Formats: sequence, C-alpha cells, structure tokens
Amino acid sequence: MTEFKKENPKLTADEKLNLLVEFGARISSELRLDKLLDIIARQITRMLDVGRCTIYLKDVERNELWSKIAQGRGLEHTEIRLPLDGNNIAAIVARNGETINLTNAYEDERFSMAIDMVNDFRTHTLLTIPLKNNNGKVLGVFQVANKADGTAFDKKDEGILLLLATLAASSIEIAKLYQDVHVAQLETIYRLAVTAEYRDQQDTRAHLKNISIISYLLALALGMTKKEAELIKNASPLHDIGKVALADNILLKPGRLSPEEFEIMKSHTIYGGRILEGAHSKVLQVAHKMSLYHHEKWNGTGYPKGLKGEEIPLEARIITVADVFDALCVSRVYKKAWKTEDAYLHILSESGKAFDPRIVAAFKKIFPSVRKLYTNQTPAEENIPTQTLPTQTGTAQNKISLS
Ligand code: C2E
Ligand code: SIN
Ligand code: SIN
Ligand code: FE
Repeated sequence: MTEFKKENPKLTADEKLNLLVEFGARISSELRLDKLLDIIARQITRMLDVGRCTIYLKDVERNELWSKIAQGRGLEHTEIRLPLDGNNIAAIVARNGETINLTNAYEDERFSMAIDMVNDFRTHTLLTIPLKNNNGKVLGVFQVANKADGTAFDKKDEGILLLLATLAASSIEIAKLYQDVHVAQLETIYRLAVTAEYRDQQDTRAHLKNISIISYLLALALGMTKKEAELIKNASPLHDIGKVALADNILLKPGRLSPEEFEIMKSHTIYGGRILEGAHSKVLQVAHKMSLYHHEKWNGTGYPKGLKGEEIPLEARIITVADVFDALCVSRVYKKAWKTEDAYLHILSESGKAFDPRIVAAFKKIFPSVRKLYTNQTPAEENIPTQTLPTQTGTAQNKISLS
C-alpha cells in the first residue's frame, strides 16, 4: 500500500499538526475505497516514520480480514486474506479490540511470517491497533512496522495511531457503503443484461463478459482514461437490452430471417434506446447510446438511423466492433461459429465500411489479448479489467490467502 521510504527526516511538531490537518482533508474527499486506503497508509507511513503501514478490513460475510499488498514487486494490487478466527496478530486485535505492540515480531508465535515473505519485507517492531467506528464496532486493524529510528513503538505512537484510526474510520465506512452501492448497481445492470440475452445465447455470461472486456481494451487502446474505459466496460452488457421486446419466433428462428422479420429484429435498437432514455447515472447514459446505435455503420448503411462517421457516438462505434467480433466467434441458431482468425480478418476488411478505421486499428493492437479470450486462456495480467463483472465484492484481481 505504500512505498518503503528509507530516508524520512524526523518531523517537527508543527509539521505533524499540518500533516494531521492535511490527513483529515484528504481522506474526507476520497470516496473510492482502494484510493482511500492507499492515502491513509501513505500518510501514516510518513507521520509515524515507519517502514510499512498495512490496513486490514473485516469481510464479515467471509469471516476474513483482507488487505492490499503493501509492497513486494509486481504484487501491489494483490489482496491478502487472513481468517478472522485465526491466531495471527491482526485477527486477534480485530477480535479483541485491543492493541498489540511487539518489540520483536519474529519472536512472537502469533506473528505470521508468511506475509513478510509475500511482501519481501522483514518485520522487526510491530504495532497493531483496532480500527473502530463511532459506535465502537471494530472495522479492521491498522498495523505499522519498523520505526525508522529502530526503537520500539511507545505509548505516544499508540496514541497517534489510534487518533489517526479514529479520523479514518468514518471515511472508510462511507467509502465501503459507496462501493457496495456501486457493486449493487453493476450487478443490477448485469442481471438485466442476462435477462435480455439468455434466450438466444448458448453462453450468455461468456458472451457478455467477452464483449465487455473487448470494449474495455478498445477504449484503453484508443487512449481513453481508465475511468472512461470502465464506464464503457460496465455499460456494454446492456447494448442488446432491447431484445427483451422481440418475440421468440424471430429471435430464435433457426434459419435466415426474411426481410420483414429482419425489419422487426432491427427494432431492438429502438426499444433499447427507449428503455434507457433519460437515465441519470453515467453508466446508463453510455448504455443508452450503445443500445440505440450499436448497429449503425461508419459508412452510413446501418440502422436504426443510418448515421455516418462521427455522427455515431464513440461508445457505439466501440461496442459494435466488440459485438460483431464476438457474434462471429460463437454459434447462433442461424449460423456456425467462425474461426477466430477469420473473424479477425472480417473486422479488418470492414474498416471504413461498417467500422471506424481508428477503432479497427485499436482492435489490431489488442487482438493478441482478445484471441486468448476465445481459446480459454486469460489475457496478459495487466490487460484484465479489475472488475470485469460484479461477481465478487473484492476489487483486487489476485488473492493470496494465508492461514
Ligand atoms: P448477432 O447474432 O449477435 O449478430 C450481431 C452482428 O454481428 C450482426 O448484426 C452482424 O453485423 C454480425 N454478424 C453476426 N453473424 C454474422 C455472419 O455470419 N456474417 C456476417 N457478415 N456478420 C455477422 P445484424 O446483422 O444487424 O443482426 C442483428 C441481430 O439479428 C443478430 O445478432 C441476430 O440476433 C439477428 N439476426 C441477424 N441475421 C439473422 C438470421 O439470418 N437469422 C436469425 N435467426 N437471426 C438473425
Ligand atoms: C499478523 O500476524 O498480523 C500479520 C503481520 C504482518 O502483517 O506482517
Ligand atoms: C446478440 O448479441 O445476441 C445480438 C444481437 C445484436 O447484436 O443485435
Ligand atoms: Fe444488437
């Protein structure tokens, strides 16, 4: 969660007061839990002048404590999980709500060296305090290790850490609530999308997941920020929501659609647009554009409006490449699955016709990762969206469980 700063000059009382004020101001404006925990850990590392600060939060559902890896090369986004009923220091403090101060961690049998090994860190002194909310409920623990001057943690350190924990507790509770609401929203979107698609998809989940990963990778390759790309990723499963309005005899027809039937099929874009019209949340606004315009074509021959070029919203130009590629790669009642390479060549051949050339160029870049999605391999680690689908509450991609 923090970098290890070797040379950290001692702070004066004034500087500490300033830090305290800054600490309060910074943490109260951060709603994202990951970012918040990161800020808190950095500030505490500075203020107490320690080698490491780790924040563990309770996961009541799973009866575990979890934390992001503080350091340790390449593992920074990994989650550490400890059983809450275990005999490790953090769990004991979380259970009893009482501080534990170790002057030599490795001599204490309750200390678990496993975490040091994952972090590539050597703990000497270790101060672990409970993180309590206003009602005295334990939310987790704050743990600091190795004071820079090599001395043991004293009562003053305990006092400062407890004070910081008190300041941090309400921000952490708010950020957790905010995250829960966000996860609930994503889950609702995802369930809606499954409802719309399950009739004509053999594997709806894989289909939605692949489309959302491809859209995300495209957005990043086009230079969008991670935030923008995540909106696109989260909205993309809803692009065909309008299909809820289509009758089975059209949606599930085994053969080719007649021209009249295809006209009806086209209306799923209009229905999708209506369903999502006037949405308030950003993600549903993106989903609105996607559902209405995902069958428009760059050269103006698409539907429902026949928009051309940049008249088509960018979000829709992105999802259409992801949607067609995925549709080609899987089997439908009316067609067999194409080979991945053939689907790729089809996308390239439609550059400037069905698709925006810029997006096809981006697709070329990401294709090595995309191909792996269709050969049952996961793409390169750095390319995986951290929250592809809301199937889990944790936000970290990797987990290490220690007992
Ligand atoms: P879908 O099956 O998910 O396909 C989405 C889009 O992928 C299609 O949009 C088309 O652009 C592309 N695509 C899919 N399969 C093929 C293919 O074999 N060759 C080519 N060149 N492109 C393909 P489109 O055409 O606007 O169709 C929208 C939706 O209408 C399709 O979604 C599917 O649900 C339905 N549909 C289209 N044609 C037929 C058909 O002949 N029979 C049936 N039963 N449904 C069809
Ligand atoms: C523990 O035993 O509480 C874990 C110590 C650590 O974080 O290294
Ligand atoms: C689907 O993904 O099943 C299809 C239809 C569409 O792209 O309109
Ligand atoms: Fe569609």
